[in-house]
Amino acid sequence: MADAVVEFLLLNLKQLLLYHVDLLSGVKDQVESLHRELSLMKAFLKDSREKRSEYEYVRELVSQITVVAYEAEDIIDTFVTNAAMQKARSTVRRAFHVFDHSSMLRNVAKEIESIKVKVKEIYDKKMFGIQNLHDGESSRRSPPLKRVPIVEEENVVGFDEEAKTMRSLLTNGSEELQIISIVGMGGLGKTTLAKEVYTDPSIEYHFYNRAWIYVSQQYSRKEVFLGILDSLSLITDEMYKMNDEKLAIELSSHLRSKRYLVVIDDVWTMEAWDDLKMAFPNTASGSRILLTTRNRDVASYANPEGSPHHLRFLTNEESWELLSKKVFRKGICPLELEDIGLQIAKKCYGLPLAIVVVSGLLLKKEKTRD
Ligand SMILES: Nc1ncnc2c1ncn2[C@@H]1O[C@H](COP(=O)(O)OP(=O)(O)OP(=O)(O)O)[C@@H](O)[C@H]1O
Ligand SMILES: [Mg+2]
Repeated sequence: MADAVVEFLLLNLKQLLLYHVDLLSGVKDQVESLHRELSLMKAFLKDSREKRSEYEYVRELVSQITVVAYEAEDIIDTFVTNAAMQKARSTVRRAFHVFDHSSMLRNVAKEIESIKVKVKEIYDKKMFGIQNLHDGESSRRSPPLKRVPIVEEENVVGFDEEAKTMRSLLTNGSEELQIISIVGMGGLGKTTLAKEVYTDPSIEYHFYNRAWIYVSQQYSRKEVFLGILDSLSLITDEMYKMNDEKLAIELSSHLRSKRYLVVIDDVWTMEAWDDLKMAFPNTASGSRILLTTRNRDVASYANPEGSPHHLRFLTNEESWELLSKKVFRKGICPLELEDIGLQIAKKCYGLPLAIVVVSGLLLKKEKTRD
């Protein structure tokens, strides 16, 4: 779990630095340094994996890293989900907003610093038989991976059945490679559902090799292949020098060895699928590709025999549950606000993104009144 949390956070920070630098005025340096420090944590998590069951101290450190990664994730999440609202906000209010994030990030940085001291001590003294297996990793050029979502697991609503269906599609049925798609309009929760399934312990257990890649409208094949190789911890300096054809062969040969799951998030066109599919061998070992796409034609094209999973809208009750979780502490709404809250939730027509954005606005309003 710790590994997945840190991995997703790192990728999200990278996305912020690449695509939302305009939102980071005043905190860009902090976000960059957070990214650097977390790279060290990621390496430590990897190096310490086999020692956790043996040593209480290592376990404790891993759980501290998890907590701090969650905290950072919370702060960063507001950047990402409120990106649209941020742009519309007046300069003065934006300044306040940035100030909030800046001080929150400073607190996280302090916590990371104290963990870092302990991690460094372990490495320096070679305690618990843990060695730095990833020397130079942080200085190595990292692949230009794009957006990977951060899902606040405790806030996901209404996906129990959907997740169960997806898990079953991924783990049961043919041993042949299957392409499974989640289809639905923007903001409906395709990525959220995919992430929920991808991080499920039973799925982690079932697939030895798992990789997540965000594609979207503009992508480069090379970046996609490098991103997948990075997810699989297979990346080497030589790979950066390869062209995309060579990388596809490299990736395909690695995937051949064991059962794999690759999530390809946000595929826009059939050409994109044609571009990428050569890297995914059919090894008759129960491997799966999970695609998310807004376009049902892309889903049918990628797998003409299968039927894509069309994501449903949230019910009014689920919309209200999500709004309450987002807006009220512990998700409990004061009685006098229930009527109006229900009405607002209903007006979001079951679209989770709308509920998330409205919740953000309501929270900001509340803070302004304070
Ligand atoms: N079932 C859910 N419960 C709680 N929050 C959700 C749920 N589904 C989606 N969200 C939230 O709604 C927002 C949009 O969801 P998500 O990014 O998964 O949509 P999407 O279908 O992948 O959209 P796009 O087509 O733009 O990629 C996110 O902030 C996500 O956290
Ligand atoms: Mg998405």
